[in-house]
Amino acid sequence: MIHPASIQEVLDRCQIEEVVRDFVSLKRNGANLIGLCPFHNEKTPSFSVSPTRNIFKCFGCGKGGDSLGFIMEHENLTFPDAVRFLAQKYRIQLDETTPTETQLEDQKQLDSLYLVNAFAAKFFEKELWESDRGKQIGLTYLKHREFREDTIRQFQIGFAPESGRGFTDEAIKEGYSLELLQQLGLTNSAGRDFFSGRIMFPISNMSGKIIAFAGRVLASNTKTPKYINSPETEIYQKSKTLFGMHLARRAIQKENECILTEGYTDVMALQQAGIAPCVASSGTSLTRDQIRMIKRLTDNVLLLFDGDAAGVNAALRGMGLTLEEDLNVRVVLLPEGDDPDSFLRKSGANGFQEYLRDHAASIVEFELRQLLQEAGNDPIRRSGVITQIAGTIGKVRSPIKREPLVKACKALLQVDEEVLNFEINRQLRKDLEKSAKAIDFYEPSTIQVPEGPSGSLTLGDSPQERDIARILLLAGNQWMNPEREIRVADFILQNVTDVLEVFDHPLYKEVLELFLERAQNGKDFPESTFFLNHPQQEIKDLAIGFVFSPYVFSDNWEKRWDIFLTQKHPDENFVDDARKSLARFRLRKITRLIEENSKALRELGETHVRFAEHIKLHIKLKQIQMQLAEQTGTVVLG
Ligand code: CTP
Ligand code: MN
Repeated sequence: MIHPASIQEVLDRCQIEEVVRDFVSLKRNGANLIGLCPFHNEKTPSFSVSPTRNIFKCFGCGKGGDSLGFIMEHENLTFPDAVRFLAQKYRIQLDETTPTETQLEDQKQLDSLYLVNAFAAKFFEKELWESDRGKQIGLTYLKHREFREDTIRQFQIGFAPESGRGFTDEAIKEGYSLELLQQLGLTNSAGRDFFSGRIMFPISNMSGKIIAFAGRVLASNTKTPKYINSPETEIYQKSKTLFGMHLARRAIQKENECILTEGYTDVMALQQAGIAPCVASSGTSLTRDQIRMIKRLTDNVLLLFDGDAAGVNAALRGMGLTLEEDLNVRVVLLPEGDDPDSFLRKSGANGFQEYLRDHAASIVEFELRQLLQEAGNDPIRRSGVITQIAGTIGKVRSPIKREPLVKACKALLQVDEEVLNFEINRQLRKDLEKSAKAIDFYEPSTIQVPEGPSGSLTLGDSPQERDIARILLLAGNQWMNPEREIRVADFILQNVTDVLEVFDHPLYKEVLELFLERAQNGKDFPESTFFLNHPQQEIKDLAIGFVFSPYVFSDNWEKRWDIFLTQKHPDENFVDDARKSLARFRLRKITRLIEENSKALRELGETHVRFAEHIKLHIKLKQIQMQLAEQTGTVVLG
């Protein structure tokens, strides 16, 4: 273990500019430096380095961080190895303390699991290439499927002997304990080989260490399952693994796309054909962990479905998650009866790429086509399709990204855009209502949100929420007043917790909750540098983004409502900044409640029993709105 003081020393000594210059040529651009991003292909430089903040950020691919982060990313190293790398560069003697006994034990335990797997892989490979049966049936089979020798070696493909004990006997002879073999599932409880007479596919983690195996039968007509897999262990969690990731990682980053297939052999075939950014989900629908693994490398996923269509619907069901996680997913359905591997063999690499280009559709459009096909001409089922697809589109958080999806779907559905938008908004409102019910904010429980076309109602107060997050991250730990009694974060928290539940944006809300948690537990608020190195990628990226573009308003709302566009940088004037941002934020939330309440008033009509209640509320909200408007210098229309 590297001593924290040593890590600090490395960080202190590291100049981001110096570290990056070893790999990227940089030009001065004001206070910053710019160059071509080493993490994705680009023609015009969007890779930016801030020497004063000691961080980098690429506005093309979104990657950003400090020197350590840069090295981890660029050299594909773990955190401790990146520290060692930089220590060497700066000739810093690292204080590597010996870990505690239990840490050592744990590490030894994990190491020995990897060691056993490495031994097993070697054993199976030797069987494939050198034993008679391995050569006769294993290698022949792989060659029959047109896998080249270098591909077979690259994927460390092997063969498990048919005897049912060849592997276990050899492993014991070599000194590996039966207990470990069984723990990894390589040997069964009866002491016999778990895999026998199968083609062996090692499954690796990101850094290329083997964590499990899959074994494929050779004959297609046997009763046993086509594949059997190692059980989950301390080093193998299926839901956190993507087959081929260690080989595809760099290419995914470079090409800014991840091709997702279902099968092990598909990944092998695509890699062999030079289509490198390719991994497999191993026949199950994507998990959130897998999506996040991909998202660290790219936002773009191309999903290849086998042409048998049987699994398509099941697979689609899991795809909502990718929309929620804000991935751009396109789908290609291969011709009937083909999977990527077989289709590639038929069409050749160029024909294959061409087919992908011509047939990729957005996942939403793809789902819609599936739904329509199922619904046929039944009008009731067809109207159900609208509800369903609106739900899918609604999962996409950004309204801007929803727009083209709506356009594509309206044509297929042959309905007006308004119909779709109405349905999307209705469903979004339903969700919003659920969360709005939870707030105790000016008696909101008495507000009845009416259903109906929601033309003018805009969902999402992101610019205002973003502003709150910005102040917290950049100036949360600063003093609000000269007497040093209250910090900026305290001030913000005291004024927003009552509307926490109507926060629209999950990330900004998370920032708020992070500060809230610290306040509640009496912990200090961290400095902004803490967030620039935050372990959670999204928060780190957000903080870095704020540093590089501290004051960009992107929303019309701001232009229309706010005259404070020329405000000073928060570093110079964060107190004022905090006050005004907060007032703007509350004004926005109050305005939203007024909009909702006015709608209720119109809907209910004067004769309704609850009309008076809503009038009272309206007056109260209006009063607050005027006060806030005064504070922010905003002109309230109407
Ligand atoms: N799978 C599995 N167990 C099975 C069948 C499939 O774990 N009994 C997983 C494997 O990860 C497999 C993927 O689902 O790679 C896709 O299945 P399939 O298309 O049937 O297999 P392929 O990988 O295409 O294998 P092959 O081309 O050799 O038939
Ligand atoms: Mn296949």
